[in-house]
Amino acid sequence: MRVQDLLGRMTVEEKVGQLMQLPAHFGDYTDKLEEWHIGSFLHCTGDNAVNLQRRAAETRLGIPLIFGIDAIHGHCFDNDSTVFPTQLSASSSWDKDLMYRMARITAKETRASGLHWTFSPVLCVARDARWGRVNETYGEDPWLIGELAAETIKGYQGPQGYDGESILACAKHYVAYGETLGGRDSYECDTSRRKLLSLFLPPFEKAVKEANVASLMTGYHAIDGIPCTVDKWLLTDVAKTQWGLDGFVVTDWENVRSLHTKQYVCADEKEACLRSLLAGNDMMMSTPEFYPLTLELIAEGRVDMSVVDEAVARVLKKKFELGLFDEMRFFAPDRSSTMGIQSHLNVSLEASLKSMVLLQNNGILPIDPNRTRKVLLIGPNADDVIAQLGDWSFGSMQAGATNDTYHRDQTVTVLQALRNAAQSYPFALEYIKGADCVDDGFSEIVQIEAAAATADLVIACVGDTLAQNGEFHDRADLTLSGQQQAMLEAVKRANAPLVVAFIASKPLTIPWIAENADALICGFNPGPFGGEAVKQVLFGEYNPGGKLTVSFPVHVGQIPVYYNKYTGWHAQNSARLNGEERYIDMPKDPLFSFGYGLSYSTFNYLSAQVQSDVIEPMQDVVVMVTLENDSDRDGTEIVQVYLRDLYSSVTTPIKRLCGFERVELAAGERREIRITIPFEQLALIDANLNKVVEAGEFHVMVGASSRDEALVTLPIRVTHDTAL
Ligand code: BGC
Repeated sequence: MRVQDLLGRMTVEEKVGQLMQLPAHFGDYTDKLEEWHIGSFLHCTGDNAVNLQRRAAETRLGIPLIFGIDAIHGHCFDNDSTVFPTQLSASSSWDKDLMYRMARITAKETRASGLHWTFSPVLCVARDARWGRVNETYGEDPWLIGELAAETIKGYQGPQGYDGESILACAKHYVAYGETLGGRDSYECDTSRRKLLSLFLPPFEKAVKEANVASLMTGYHAIDGIPCTVDKWLLTDVAKTQWGLDGFVVTDWENVRSLHTKQYVCADEKEACLRSLLAGNDMMMSTPEFYPLTLELIAEGRVDMSVVDEAVARVLKKKFELGLFDEMRFFAPDRSSTMGIQSHLNVSLEASLKSMVLLQNNGILPIDPNRTRKVLLIGPNADDVIAQLGDWSFGSMQAGATNDTYHRDQTVTVLQALRNAAQSYPFALEYIKGADCVDDGFSEIVQIEAAAATADLVIACVGDTLAQNGEFHDRADLTLSGQQQAMLEAVKRANAPLVVAFIASKPLTIPWIAENADALICGFNPGPFGGEAVKQVLFGEYNPGGKLTVSFPVHVGQIPVYYNKYTGWHAQNSARLNGEERYIDMPKDPLFSFGYGLSYSTFNYLSAQVQSDVIEPMQDVVVMVTLENDSDRDGTEIVQVYLRDLYSSVTTPIKRLCGFERVELAAGERREIRITIPFEQLALIDANLNKVVEAGEFHVMVGASSRDEALVTLPIRVTHDTAL
């Protein structure tokens, strides 16, 4: 009602302006607010937001601005905010409720800086560790991504509509952006509609249908030759018509211009504006020429006003829902009682703890304080705020980031945490940084070897840093960079027990560590309290329970290593390979697989069964597992259920995740867990692009990780073909 009324009073210029989103952090675009009737700015910080909003209120119709920002693991561009572990790191918790709570906090803090919309969550599927943006994802499994993303979106958008503590979410990058060739960011993606429907669209579908996400962001890349920006099937037919997106589509940065300047599918920028609009983009991020060129297109009769009206209506609807036309226009929760308050920081620590994945332990952990007199701490990431917090933590463009600027006060590095621990435990701590991740002017090998020779334990914090990940930073070589490896080898030469804390944006190839370290803890970018979390795991103050959501390759040439792979590789019959499907010069399995992670408790799967092994159409599959914590420590196990369709009309993966439960079991406790797999999850996309459950045998596999040896197989039979 109010949208239509307002639309009826708007000029053509005012309408086109509503479709514009321009940067507030550089250039002189904010000067254009009135002249171009701009509807949205991104990356607006400090007082800028309220000042611009005041100016917008004074325009002819007083249409409020909507401000977007990349608050992707906390409202990190604001130095007072609560930073969380990166999406990849936090996903290792497999904790949906935690996702929700982190998003609620981010929403409230974002709103406290006068902003209304986050470009989060990222629903890209991480299938190639060379890609620079793996850190932004929830890992490699499409179904898990959907589960975690839905909770995140609900958290941002709030339980009852947009109160003053909720923001719009944006599911991005639509779609299959993680599938570009060679892990090359924004490059061409060669995939089929069937694969889109099977793997890449489902998380977005869940975001729209189940979590009612307020916006989608169009990916930079092209799929099978068609840039997402001009793909009407994706933007309009699927997202808006089929799924019923109750929100709007925003392009990524300069997508419209790039159709002409980078992808060369439009001979000029005017054609780029025309095609972007007609495909279903409702807001154009950072293409200033969209304003004059679209006005020309309208004047020339090449764009029907109904197309513009529909896009404007979608944007205005969200502004109304946010209350920006009413009492919420200038509302912002009080900063001092909101930003970075203790209760929020506590959730960040909880996330860091739950994100820790113990990948290896020969019994050295937890550290026995009575037998440890001297601890040597080494490595580039032992005292590095930037590596600990990860990408998108340091303001727009992150140019000014140093270890002493953003979020320094909040952050507890491993060095700080161990220094504190040395006050209460009887060990002496020596710290030698040693190698850098990127700079190899490292000259402390001799000192490290000497110090290691007299240490009871060496803790090495290795990995990568900001300059090695993120947009524009794909890597061809995933080995430990700089002299990190040489530094670890020096410890080995000294025969010192070695515990590695892996603080990195994503999986790297670390077979030497797997072979030589006594223990390995993976935190990825574990957030401001990552150092504290590492310390708590080391000393057994916290019993780790995280599990990987992404597989670690042994070597870069082993990629792809995602667990949901196919059979049929011509390696099978080779006697030399013992019937294993693998490269002749590479092991079959990844170094560490999806779903893997250890605990200080021992979990036994005492029994596993399905409630019924004959499944009628629309009947759910119920899996029952008896789990026992056979140890004297309380602990967390993430029980996983996978599915394999044995014979089907199209090839299907050897297994795919279809259920899980994060179970906290007290020492000695035994419990029956029931996991329900909705019938719909047995479906595949057939050759005609229909979603069907095909009759026949399936294997339900239940256990501790995606590795075959960790799973018990339970056969079931579906009685009839069922179209969904
Ligand atoms: C990224 C998006 C981000 C946008 C705005 C782009 O370069 O791909 O993920 O939301 O910039 O900062």
